[in-house]
Amino acid sequence: MKINVLTLFPEMFSAVTGSILGKAAEKGLLEFNFINIRDFSNDKHKKADDYPFGGGPGMVMLADPIFGALNSIDAKGKKCIYMSPRGRVLNQDMIQSLSEEGELTILCGHYEGVDQRVLDYWEMEEISIGDYVLTGGELAAMVLIDSVARMIPGVLAGEESAMEESIYSGLLEYPQYTKPRSYEGMDVPEVLVSGNHKLIRLWKLEQSLELTKKNRPDLFDAFVKNHGDFTKDEQKVLEKVLK
Ligand SMILES: C[S@@+](CC[C@H](N)C(=O)[O-])C[C@H]1O[C@@H](n2cnc3c(N)ncnc32)[C@H](O)[C@@H]1O
Repeated sequence: MKINVLTLFPEMFSAVTGSILGKAAEKGLLEFNFINIRDFSNDKHKKADDYPFGGGPGMVMLADPIFGALNSIDAKGKKCIYMSPRGRVLNQDMIQSLSEEGELTILCGHYEGVDQRVLDYWEMEEISIGDYVLTGGELAAMVLIDSVARMIPGVLAGEESAMEESIYSGLLEYPQYTKPRSYEGMDVPEVLVSGNHKLIRLWKLEQSLELTKKNRPDLFDAFVKNHGDFTKDEQKVLEKVLK
């Protein structure tokens, strides 16, 4: 997948090009193209914003440099996203569907946002990462990039780890433990060191169900309504949690 990012602060994106996503780029699974919007400003001071028509606080990002940046990558007709608190809130279904795109172009706003004509002409989908306001779209874009990229086959070392993770399975993930078996008087649950794979699987399911019921009753209710075929043992676990 090719990911174009239009930003006033390309240097911030070193945070996503290291580690797992950097390795994926080396393997050719991802290609990053960070574009500095200011490079397309025709102003001698490289200005990229101005006062809003009609008054109001703050500044608005100019249409012209953004048009220049989008034209330079021939973005017309391709999937364009504007990170925005006004957008639909990102969720795993949206992430899955975006991961099936061959190319994504992401615009990061600043100040009061961008001239509306950018969003209209380039048919930008507005996506929010939550009901709060950030100072700029870069952190939101990084959340989008990281969550989408890890859904691309081959980006994570083991496919299974993505499938078992919180939310993806419809449930929150069960608690995890590693060495040592006993730490500061707290022991790893006996079942995890029992070697009994069936019991371990049922314990993980029960823990996931309990956690989801407690922290995300909305997800829990949806899971109870829509879960696929359960074995008799799994059904017993579910009934225990439902009591
Ligand atoms: C201070 S915000 C502008 C908020 C805008 N005036 C409004 O009320 O909708 C600056 C930029 O941060 C980004 N941003 C802020 N909150 C966001 C969120 N929850 N999700 C995605 N992007 C966000 C957007 O790119 C936005 O243009």
